[in-house]
Parts: sequence; C-alpha cells; structure tokens
Amino acid sequence: MYKRIIRPVLFCLNPETAHILSLKALGLFGKLPLGRSILKLFFKRKPKNLERELFGLKFPHPVGLAAGLDKNGDYYNDLATLGFSFIEIGSLTPKPQDGNPRPRVFRLVRDKAIINRMGINNKGIRYAIERIRKDKPNVIIAASIAKNTTSKLEDEIIHDYTECFSLMYDFVDMFTVNVSCPNVVGLQGLQDLSYLSDLLDPLLDLRRCYETYKPILIKLSPDINDGQLYEILSWCMLYGIDGIVATNTTRSRDNLKASDSRIQAIGNGGLSGAPLFEKSLSMVKKINAFTKGRLPVIGVGGIMTPQQAQQMLDAGASLVEIYTGFIYNGPGFVNKIIKYLSNEKR
Ligand SMILES: Cc1cc2nc3c(=O)[nH]c(=O)nc-3n(C[C@H](O)[C@H](O)[C@H](O)COP(=O)(O)O)c2cc1C
Repeated sequence: MYKRIIRPVLFCLNPETAHILSLKALGLFGKLPLGRSILKLFFKRKPKNLERELFGLKFPHPVGLAAGLDKNGDYYNDLATLGFSFIEIGSLTPKPQDGNPRPRVFRLVRDKAIINRMGINNKGIRYAIERIRKDKPNVIIAASIAKNTTSKLEDEIIHDYTECFSLMYDFVDMFTVNVSCPNVVGLQGLQDLSYLSDLLDPLLDLRRCYETYKPILIKLSPDINDGQLYEILSWCMLYGIDGIVATNTTRSRDNLKASDSRIQAIGNGGLSGAPLFEKSLSMVKKINAFTKGRLPVIGVGGIMTPQQAQQMLDAGASLVEIYTGFIYNGPGFVNKIIKYLSNEKR
C-alpha cells in the first residue's frame, strides 16, 4: 500500500514538506486513544533471536533510525511503534537554528537517493530536553550533537559540544558526536585529529564526573581518506570512545543515473540512499579490520533492502541505521528487515 498509494502522493510534494507531513500524521495518529497501540499491532515485532547487548544497553534487535528525521525529539515514541530498536534524535545544537534556505532536500528517484543541505536546522537542545521530560522514551535514545553554524572559533565549537553533552546527559542513553555533516561550514574539518581530540577530550573528562556511564560514538564522513580514518580509530581506541557511526552522507556524485544538468541544478549537499551503500559498507569493513572488531560500529548509508542490512552486519557492524531506505520503502521497512534477519539466523 505504501509503495502503490502513499508514496506516489508524498513524492508529488516537496521532499521536506512530505517528511514534515508524514511525521505530523504519525504524531497525530499516535495521540489518538489507542493510536500507538494500533501502530504497534501493525508494525512492531519482538524478534527473539536478534537481541544484542552493546555499551551496556540491551537492544531488542539491530535496526535503528539514523539522525536527521526526528531532529527535535518530537516523534521518537511514535517512530518506536514502527519497530525501531533505537532512535537517534538530532542533530541538536545549543541554540536553535533555521538551517539553510529552502529548497534544501531533493529526491533522485531513479537513483533511490536524496540530496540534502538542511544545515542542521533544529529547535535547540533545551527544546529536545523538554520533550523528553514530557514524553518519557519507550525506546533507546541516542542524541546526535553538533555545533551551531555561527560558532567558528575553536573555543566556541568545543563549548557547543560540551554544552549539549552536559545538558542532555541525564536524558538519553547514548551520544553521537556529529563531525561529518557536509552542510555546515567547518564541521567536517573537525575530523582532523588535532581538532577532534580537542573536542572529545572535554566530553570524556565530563563523563567521568557522572555516576552513570553514557556511551560516546563519533559519526564519520564516508569521504575521509584511509590515513585520517586510521588515525581517528587509533585515538578512539586509546582514549575510550565507545564506537563509530559509519557513515554520514557523501559529497560524491559518482555513478548517478540522474542527468548532469539535474545534479548541477541541485547544487551542494550530502547524498544518501542507494548510491552510498558501497562506500559505507567499505568503511565499516575497514573499521572492523583495523580495530580487529574491538570498536563497535553502527553501519548506516544506503541500506535499501533487508539483504543490505544483513551485509552491513556481516561486514562487522554491531547495529545498523536507516533513513533514506525508510523514506523509499515506508513504515513497514523495519519489520521487513527484522523478519529477514530473524530467518537468516535460524
Ligand atoms: C534529510 C536528511 C537530514 C539529515 N540530517 C542529519 C543530521 O541532522 N545529523 C546527522 O548526523 N545525520 C543526518 N543525516 C544523515 C543520516 O543520518 C544518514 O547518515 C545518511 O542519510 C545515510 O543513511 P541513508 O542512506 O540510510 O539515508 C541526514 C540525512 C538526510 C537524508
């Protein structure tokens, strides 16, 4: 029904409007008496053989929602009814920000892809905290944290991440440090180890002040070179970073079916969906080989079929996340993946 009726209607709309309307509809349905129970009945399964324990957290299965869809933490409990094992909210910055001017999300339907240059539009970390206070999460929540676009000096940038981290610490289960969004000036530069260590050191120091331990993961770009990747991985293993999220969107426009003129007309932005899969998969493999499986990886990027989720896991990912695959396949996609993974395990 999604692919035959709902998707064609949604795909007539501007992509960002379609995302907002779909989430609003899901949220409204969830507010109806028994709304969330009905959604759970349709979509949520409890696979017995897919549980895993990671970072001290018990994941019912390995499939989560990637950052960027529930930017402000408005919909995590509604999205959880669709079967996600964990949900990454954000990316969130200390101050609210509008992001880049619209249009800033584009579909490449023939490529099963999206190009976005949202620019981390969000209502700010305090808004998300209020949401979590009001609607206690029924699902594992990761907070993706980032810097405000206006923060340019190193001190300001470090302050942004530490502020988000400390304010959010008691409200979520784990953190993802976003240093790989291609749509915020200067953000990807933070993947240089000299900056990255200055950024992560204070977070690791802060964590020591708390009684409870919250995992810290770093989300990387698929566009960094191997030297950079291995330098980061060595540092992470030495200093106690808990894992890597691989990957964010890519700046690459290789091997697309869309015409050059269409690609040029769209302009800058990060590409997600099917064309990203091989790049993300290869990065997961490299991380797993380099760390000998000692640093957990969340594999994300271009998972459009249940088989590709399995491939990510086979490549060494402990968990996977989806975003564009969810947009193209609809609300039943998580369930489809879980069913496939469960059968593979038998
Ligand atoms: C519209 C859009 C917005 C996104 N916003 C964020 C974000 O705020 N923070 C982040 O870390 N990743 C963000 N991402 C990247 C996704 O989390 C994911 O890493 C990427 O899209 C690759 O996965 P996919 O191919 O399954 O979509 C965004 C992706 C899209 C398509």
